[in-house]
Formats: sequence, C-alpha cells, structure tokens
Amino acid sequence: MARLSVENVSVTYGGKRGPVKALADVSVEVASGEIVVALGASGCGKSTLLGLMAGFLKPTAGAVQVDGVPIAGPGTDRAVVFQDDALMPWLSAEDNVAFGLQMRGFKQAERRAAAREMLAQVGLEGFAGHAIHEMSGGMRQRVGLARALAVKPDFLLMDEPLGALDELTRERMQMLILNLWQRSGKGIFLITHSIEEALFMASELVLLSPRPGRIVQRYQTGFARRFIAGEPVRAIKADPQFVAMREELANAILASEENEVTHVG
Ligand SMILES: Nc1ncnc2c1ncn2[C@@H]1O[C@H](COP(=O)(O)OP(=O)(O)OP(=O)(O)O)[C@@H](O)[C@H]1O
Ligand SMILES: [Mg+2]
Repeated sequence: MARLSVENVSVTYGGKRGPVKALADVSVEVASGEIVVALGASGCGKSTLLGLMAGFLKPTAGAVQVDGVPIAGPGTDRAVVFQDDALMPWLSAEDNVAFGLQMRGFKQAERRAAAREMLAQVGLEGFAGHAIHEMSGGMRQRVGLARALAVKPDFLLMDEPLGALDELTRERMQMLILNLWQRSGKGIFLITHSIEEALFMASELVLLSPRPGRIVQRYQTGFARRFIAGEPVRAIKADPQFVAMREELANAILASEENEVTHVG
C-alpha cells in the first residue's frame, strides 16, 4: 500500500509577462487501488499537477510526498504515460518495453521475459517483434503502457493518454486500463479532457478551474468499480445516473470558465 500526497500545493511559473499562478492550494491523494482523475478546462494546471507527482518540477509552496517522504525527482516508483507515446519507432515493441529495464541494469534474458509478460498484459502477445512504425495508434499506446508497467511502479501517472485515439479504440483502452488497474492494485492518476472518460474511469474525480488552478469539486464515483464487477461499459455509460452526472460536470466546467479571473501578478 503506497500513498502519493499533494498537500496545499501552489505553483507559480516565472514568465516574460509576469508570474503565472498555475496551481493554488491544491490537495489531492492517490493511494494504491485508487484511480484519481483530474478533469478541467485547458490551462487549469492538470499537467503541472502531474509534473509535481512525477518529480519533474517542485512546488512553490506545499508538499508532495510518497509515504511521507518528499519527492526529490523522477523515480521508478512512478511511471508516466503521455498522449504522445515517445516510443522509438524503429525498434520492436519488445525492445521499446525492455529499454527502460536495460537502463536499470537488468540482464538481457530478464528484460526479454519481462517485456513479453507486459506486452501480454496489454493484449499484444504475438506483436513483440513488430516495429512501432508498423502499429496503429491504439497499439502504440498499449506498448507505451507496457513500457510504463515494466518497471513495476507503484503509481501510473497518465496525461491524456487516450486523447489521440478514435472513439471505439479509446473505449477499448479505457476498459484495458481499468482491468490492469484491478489486477495490479496500482494507484493511478489520470488526466483527461473527456467528461465521459473521467466519469467512467475514476474512483475519485477532481474538477479543476483555471487561473489560478484549483480544485473546485470532488466526486467519489462508483462507475469504474461497477465495470470491474462485470457491468457492461455501454450499460454504464447509458445509465441515467451516469448521464445526469455527465451533464452536471459539463455545467460545472462551463461555470468555472465563466468565473475565470485573469492571472495573479
Ligand atoms: N513552463 C511553464 N512556464 C510558464 N508557464 C507555464 C509553464 N507550464 C505551464 N504554464 C502555464 O501554467 C498554466 C497551467 O498549465 P498546465 O499545462 O498545467 O495546464 P493543463 O491543465 O495541463 O492544460 P491542457 O489541458 O491544455 O493540457 C497555464 O496557464 C500555462 O500557460
Ligand atoms: Mg496538460
């Protein structure tokens, strides 16, 4: 059981046209077995929040910790998946997954075995030898996910991982990620622009508003767990309760944009 906590964090970027307050007094916690989804308009600080968790940047104020220990930088306990998968297109799926393990000193046979196991977990057994440039966007994103999982992180941090996929591939990936989540018990932090995706995938959903980025609403949602319990995805997304919450969230996002104030200088 691991716990990643962001406590009363603010981030101010220095900019040519004065400082930009990207996050103001944000607190959020990602524990093993939870999937926290951040939703909000463009520029509300979602990627900044993920950057703090990943250790890419430090808070201006507040604390970011794993199990009470301040995060000093990137670490293999936290794996990051971006929309742009950043795979090496000329290498095979297996070599891409094994790459991170090579950097960490694993022997070749171990790397190969681990890479094949991870590719199987994301439904790509049989594609280990395929070059990335021969694969579809959905398959590439699976390879990216396998690569992230290969280092056996406690936390998966995902920034719009499915944003570039067509609707049906995207839904298939949502289900795949939920199944992986259930099997692995990892803590997941997921950023999305899609209200439906956020509602479907979250155990906790945090809604941010922009300038300065702050959390304006938190929802404990049970749709992801209903899917894990066996309810079909289409039934869940068509459930009147799901539809009502989706509309409530859409209205909340619109309202947060209307109340937007210009940045704090
Ligand atoms: N390196 C930086 N230097 C200066 N300002 C930055 C920097 N990175 C982000 N910002 C600003 O901080 C704010 C939050 O940016 P962030 O990228 O976290 O938003 P976001 O919610 O991820 O947006 P999107 O949904 O478009 O990805 C924005 O106003 C952005 O312009
Ligand atoms: Mg972003």
